[in-house]
Amino acid sequence: MIRLAGVDKTYVVRTKAGRLRRLRREVRAVDDVSFTVDAGEMVGYLGPNGAGKSTTIKMITGILTPTSGEISVLGLTPTAQRRELTRQIGVVFGQRSQLWWDLPLVDSFELLHHVYRTDRARHDHNLAEFVERLDLGEFLDVPVRQLSLGQRMRGELTAALLHDPALVVLDEPTIGLDVVSKFAVRRFLQDTNRERGTTVLLTTHDLDDVEHLCQRMLIIDRGRVLLDGDVAQFKAEHGTERTVVVDFDREVSPLRLSTGEVVRHDGPRQWIRFDRRRTTAAEVIAELTAAHPVRDLAIEEPEIEDLIRRIYDSRSPP
Ligand SMILES: Nc1ncnc2c1ncn2[C@@H]1O[C@H](COP(=O)(O)OP(=O)(O)OP(=O)(O)O)[C@@H](O)[C@H]1O
Ligand SMILES: [Mg+2]
Repeated sequence: MIRLAGVDKTYVVRTKAGRLRRLRREVRAVDDVSFTVDAGEMVGYLGPNGAGKSTTIKMITGILTPTSGEISVLGLTPTAQRRELTRQIGVVFGQRSQLWWDLPLVDSFELLHHVYRTDRARHDHNLAEFVERLDLGEFLDVPVRQLSLGQRMRGELTAALLHDPALVVLDEPTIGLDVVSKFAVRRFLQDTNRERGTTVLLTTHDLDDVEHLCQRMLIIDRGRVLLDGDVAQFKAEHGTERTVVVDFDREVSPLRLSTGEVVRHDGPRQWIRFDRRRTTAAEVIAELTAAHPVRDLAIEEPEIEDLIRRIYDSRSPP
């Protein structure tokens, strides 16, 4: 479905330095990236801000030309055969819309039916199914600019999949979404992948997305692929730390605990890191509540930045 071989992308940035001088700076956004995605896979492309995720997606969808290396998507060269490719793939950019801003949602869908020249019955069937699954019925007559981000994103997904693409590529489809919309987006992508066999490649900096959706993930950092592997196996190896955030009823000095370690404190709040393989959150919480009256508790998953740091640490020689 997708094949990248030794792909680089360097942006040239020109900045003014003083009145006459212009500086030319190069930013290597994607650096020797190679991977393949097979038909029917659902792959997460994960990385922190500025890692090169969007740049990769833009090259895969034919918006940007690689500086060097080769890309093939559905057997096509994205930039050279962009129109042909567009007809066969679905694309969602979380930060940008493919819908007509001033038109009711349903009119955008109707326009896409003409753009893609899809079969009428097929279009109607898909639309009815997506509207039901994404709970869009109430919003069909609302102009896109009046929709909330979560409602619009559900509209974007529908727009991207109406023409039955074999591949859908999504750049940050869950960014900024409330929990309900995020879950709706995830479930929809999962069902589409399972029931229609649609290949899915999505970028995110939310590890939680990948854990819930993908069997395989690629982690990209500073333009390079740091890891390409099985999500469950990665979690077992690297995702073992959790943090309990506790609010006591008053300021307490950092506790000394047998179940975990206080890594930060701020007024009545303390952050306790523990290892899931050795102890459970319940045990940590029991120890905390026994020590002092607790007002509130939360459990935090590790951030992508923490995981990347740990991957580097585990690879550097001791
Ligand atoms: N048009 C551009 N001109 C110059 N530099 C750019 C351009 N677009 C991106 N960059 C730079 O390339 C690098 C990768 O950017 P990219 O948008 O691909 O990252 P990203 O992983 O999508 O990040 P985010 O999570 O913030 O969306 C960054 O250093 C960014 O500043
Ligand atoms: Mg991006």
